[in-house]
Amino acid sequence: MVTTWAVYGLAAAAGAAALRWLQVRLRLSRAKHPSLAGHAKMSRRIAKLVPYYAYDADTFFASDGAPEGVAMRRRAAFERLGRELRERSPRSVAAGEELESGVSDVQFTNHYRVPFQYREIVRRTLKLGAVVEESAGTRIKDCDGQWSYDLTGSYGVNLLGYDFYKECIDAGAEHARRLGPVLGAYHPLIADNVRRLKQISGLDEVSFHMSGTEAVMQAVRLAQYHTRRSHVVVFCGAYHGWWDGVQPGVGNPRKISDVYMLRDLSRATLAVLRTRSDIACVLVNPLQALHPNSGAPGDGALVDSSRTARFDRAAYARWLETLREVCTARGIVLIFDEVFVGFRLARGGAQEYFGVRADLVTYGKTLGGGLPVGVLCGEHRYMKRFRDEQPADVCFARGTFNSHPYVLGAMHEFLRRLDEPAVRATYDGLEARWNARAARLNARLEAANLPVRVANLVSIWTIVYTRPSRYNWMFQYYLRLHGLALSWVGSGRLIFSHNYGDEDYEAVVERFVAAASAMDADGWWWGDASLTNRAIRRRILRELIAASFRSRARVGGEAGAAINPPA
Ligand SMILES: Cc1ncc(COP(=O)(O)O)c(C=O)c1O
Repeated sequence: MVTTWAVYGLAAAAGAAALRWLQVRLRLSRAKHPSLAGHAKMSRRIAKLVPYYAYDADTFFASDGAPEGVAMRRRAAFERLGRELRERSPRSVAAGEELESGVSDVQFTNHYRVPFQYREIVRRTLKLGAVVEESAGTRIKDCDGQWSYDLTGSYGVNLLGYDFYKECIDAGAEHARRLGPVLGAYHPLIADNVRRLKQISGLDEVSFHMSGTEAVMQAVRLAQYHTRRSHVVVFCGAYHGWWDGVQPGVGNPRKISDVYMLRDLSRATLAVLRTRSDIACVLVNPLQALHPNSGAPGDGALVDSSRTARFDRAAYARWLETLREVCTARGIVLIFDEVFVGFRLARGGAQEYFGVRADLVTYGKTLGGGLPVGVLCGEHRYMKRFRDEQPADVCFARGTFNSHPYVLGAMHEFLRRLDEPAVRATYDGLEARWNARAARLNARLEAANLPVRVANLVSIWTIVYTRPSRYNWMFQYYLRLHGLALSWVGSGRLIFSHNYGDEDYEAVVERFVAAASAMDADGWWWGDASLTNRAIRRRILRELIAASFRSRARVGGEAGAAINPPA
């Protein structure tokens, strides 16, 4: 009898444990974004199944089912555009082509500017330069003397105008010249940099690194060390550098088992944070406020018009406040990764702008005054790299060039100038100015009945498309031809420097509208009632399935060959 009761008891305990496990697992599943981007492991598996195929010349111009007349108009425009791009900058294009075989980065970016089905024909015809020679004001000049307004922002480094950074670098080198590249011992300027960084971040200590990626690595490592917990929470779509410890999805071949990629702005995520005991830290990249739960909007993935972006400052601030409360209550380290947005939204960065304090904050990009850098600021209790009671249990961090005198010099100039009245003035009315600029451009686009709009987080913009289309990625080429320099992600991210005066900005507006009008006139935005985003995605899915069958059926064929070889 006693044995029977013991068995019942054990079974009940096992059942309860299984139920609890299931509940915890379900809670985690609910906190994942339903899109593929929210499921790192699955997206990696699916990425491996996507077969390559390419459109032939006929399909290329009518992949949306456009009538023949429209396809012919597009084809003529495409040839003309290719000619004009080459004629505008022949030397720059030739220099870029030469680089492609030797610089893997150029090869990669050239392959991922447009959805892969169009890639071959685009690469043959629409050639872009990859080399520039000069910058001044808000513009950059290629090897052919062609000046373009810079909307690349140099990945976000260029906050105050290239001339500002040239001065920081020159003055910084002047500070460092007598010492030269002595490492290990510090240049005396470090003390002033630390003082200013502590004041800006409101935190106790600083560590210097060579890139934003490394600053993030150190932040995560310290959080794990001090909490003695294993897992890192990152939000779906957020970029934190290319360290695989924060990149669990496509792009990183290493299997990552200590990252929870959860939904941004979600109660389900809060429920996970409130109940799990293995979470060391939550990483926030405030740039996600512009496009929560989706990644950097590159044109290589712009297969339809479903890209969305909309920034709601109050809602995001409330979300950060709640995160702060939950992290405090649960002993989770809250890390703001301000490598991109730091100094751009406000002098005190995202912490000041959203009115929420973090335990650790990373900075980089612009902070180096034009030179490469990453910085971590944090509370003493999290920055400490050893334990008084366990002297052998340390948290290692190094990096040969971590406080290079020249970088410290340029950073010093950046931080010093940040407090000069002229630079301080650039923060006055900052948000209202950029919002008004975006609104003005949108009004012009609407008045011209063009299916393009912009959304912005202060001076970081993204282009969205209002009518279903398969050809939005073509817009990047029209913009470039009209003298607007874009980064390789194309129309997904425009980064303005804050030295854009009204006159320069108006010139950008004129070019932008002219580029959109030209693209419209060339027929790329043709559409009828059957062309919906859903229909586009379905068609692509059918093509993928067919291509997949074909590539399996091909025995001994050339791996990855085009199903419709380009003409
Ligand atoms: C938010 C954020 N964190 C980290 C990084 C990585 O910085 P770095 O490219 O200097 O390694 C970036 C770079 O874009 C970033 O935007």
